[in-house]
Amino acid sequence: MSGSPVTAVGVFDSGVGGLSVWRALRAALPGAHLSYLADNAWAPYGERPAEALRGRVTALVRDWRACEPLDLLVLACNTATAVAIDALRQEHPDLPIVGIEPAVRPALAATRSGRVGVVATRATLNSARYQALRSACLAGAAGGPSVHERAADGLADAIERGDEALARALCHRHLRALLDEAPAIDTLVLGCTHYPLVREAWLAASEGPIALIDPAEAVARRARHLLPGAGPGSGEALPSPTWRSTGHPESLRRATRQWLNLPAEVRSPQS
Ligand code: DGL
Repeated sequence: MSGSPVTAVGVFDSGVGGLSVWRALRAALPGAHLSYLADNAWAPYGERPAEALRGRVTALVRDWRACEPLDLLVLACNTATAVAIDALRQEHPDLPIVGIEPAVRPALAATRSGRVGVVATRATLNSARYQALRSACLAGAAGGPSVHERAADGLADAIERGDEALARALCHRHLRALLDEAPAIDTLVLGCTHYPLVREAWLAASEGPIALIDPAEAVARRARHLLPGAGPGSGEALPSPTWRSTGHPESLRRATRQWLNLPAEVRSPQS
């Protein structure tokens, strides 16, 4: 034992979607204590007004920090990043915060057809942050590529409830609508952290080769860069993770079993 305090990383999402980022963080930061907070009581976020979400996320993070010291916060939620990351950084200048955004730039670099699809929540796609990202990526891209968006309404909620059959049907409906608009789409950005949990359903819905772009590993690399002591080689045993939910503990418990094959003891936010 080194005797030094274990690095604590907070991982936040509206619900269970952040587990797709948690997986990548666990692999990249084996020496860190991961503490997950799911706002299941308010999920899904994606069809709520930005102002209300900003107030909600900033209040939750404030209360979280009051009961648990965090060395880094990962907003494992595109929607929370889009509406609240600036306010959070302003309120917590001492806390490094890593957000997640639809990976439009890597998708434009990967596409061969020049046609990129983005599925995300309505709140993410409507945000000024996403619009600015989209314009910046297209301004720098050669060859006249295009980016086609689809708000995948209902999908985060279906995944939240563990309804895989409905999730499959919604992936099919949303991807077919995008392909009807732009049949040459060969690269699809998964712009909501819930969506990589049903990766196979996207692939099945595409009916042709399509590359799925999920920035979880890039987020984990960024976190590791900010916390070099928590990466591979720290030599410590894995600290067991903490799980908190604002809603009924069973939905997060079921999700860790379903998506991570991991049992979890779920607490309330302030316990
Ligand atoms: N997983 C979140 C995201 O990345 C939010 C989905 C939702 O709650 O609607 O956008």
